Amino acid sequence: MRRRSILGMMAAAAVTLFAVQPVFAAEAVFSAYSNVIVAGQSDSGGAPGTSAPGAGSLGPAGPGTSVSGPAGAPGSNNQIVPGADVPVFVQSPGNESPSGSFAAVSGNAEMAPAGDEGTVLSPVITAGSNDAEEGARQQAEAQGAEEAAMQQAEAQGAEEAAMQQAQTGGRYIDPNKPMVALTFDDGPQPSVGNRIMDCLAQYGGKATFFMVGDRVASHQAEVQRMVAEGHEVANHTMNHKYLQKLGAAEIQAQVVKGNDAIEAACGVRPKLLRLPGGNHNAAVRANTHMPMIQWNIDTLDWKTKNADKTVAAVLDHVKDGDIVLMHELYKQSGDAALRIIPELHNRGFQMVTVSEMAAAKGVTLEAGKLYSSFH
Ligand code: NI
Repeated sequence: MRRRSILGMMAAAAVTLFAVQPVFAAEAVFSAYSNVIVAGQSDSGGAPGTSAPGAGSLGPAGPGTSVSGPAGAPGSNNQIVPGADVPVFVQSPGNESPSGSFAAVSGNAEMAPAGDEGTVLSPVITAGSNDAEEGARQQAEAQGAEEAAMQQAEAQGAEEAAMQQAQTGGRYIDPNKPMVALTFDDGPQPSVGNRIMDCLAQYGGKATFFMVGDRVASHQAEVQRMVAEGHEVANHTMNHKYLQKLGAAEIQAQVVKGNDAIEAACGVRPKLLRLPGGNHNAAVRANTHMPMIQWNIDTLDWKTKNADKTVAAVLDHVKDGDIVLMHELYKQSGDAALRIIPELHNRGFQMVTVSEMAAAKGVTLEAGKLYSSFH
């Protein structure tokens, strides 16, 4: 009851904020899906380009966009496959799958975005369309809802905002403004991670750090700083093994030990998992027992080790709801982050953790499912 009354007060305050923006209902329609992007196919057991639309796969009305990645990325033959319930992008990655193509799909299809240490070049792909959301918003406005319905929607929106604020320790994320989740893998690595956190602090940004369990004990102070400053500590397995090569018990052990190591260092047990290389198969999906967070902008920073290319990979493509993959291990990735973060701020992006973005977009993250964006 006490919680309720606090929420009520927060809701009342938020009503004032949102009184002139009765757009929650319309936008909620487009909040409950995430496109899963397949960039590469390393699981030989699965058929390339398998399409398995999952629950909540509301596709944007527009055709989406598909763009190739930084210089050197091979995917230049993007095309949109008609007839799918979400935009499906087929690319020619060169020498990978037998058909020379892979596709963006929704749901739990076999997929393996070229990973941080993989050998597959992964073009940057962006999917979805802000135009669709904007169009729906404008349409809803034009319909001119009844005053009572308008007030109800406002109250609901205010309550959601208040709830969200309560869940994020007083940090308010505006669901009507663009947001992006910057993610940094393979740390902790204080020489880079602390620079990134210094910069994020200047702009009120938060990031998600997917850490390798066997590195954590050596860098506890950095992990504790992540928690203290509101970043999300997340699991990248105990030893960075490719889980699709392991049996069920080993998969579970890699995940549990990674969570244990992080929790021991900072007191917070991770809620999210990133698969090494993004690789998975049915056994992996059945045995991690955590939401698995992929990405839809792959900077290839681990490969290029070039800050200019990493900056371009983000700033040339970034849009609301994206998950950006970078790595904490490389100085050049830190250099790039120090340029990316101020510019995202200039463009009005909220830099949020993955869990914050899911909450803001109305997505409940579920164990055993894959998420690569929140468009
Ligand atoms: Ni990794």
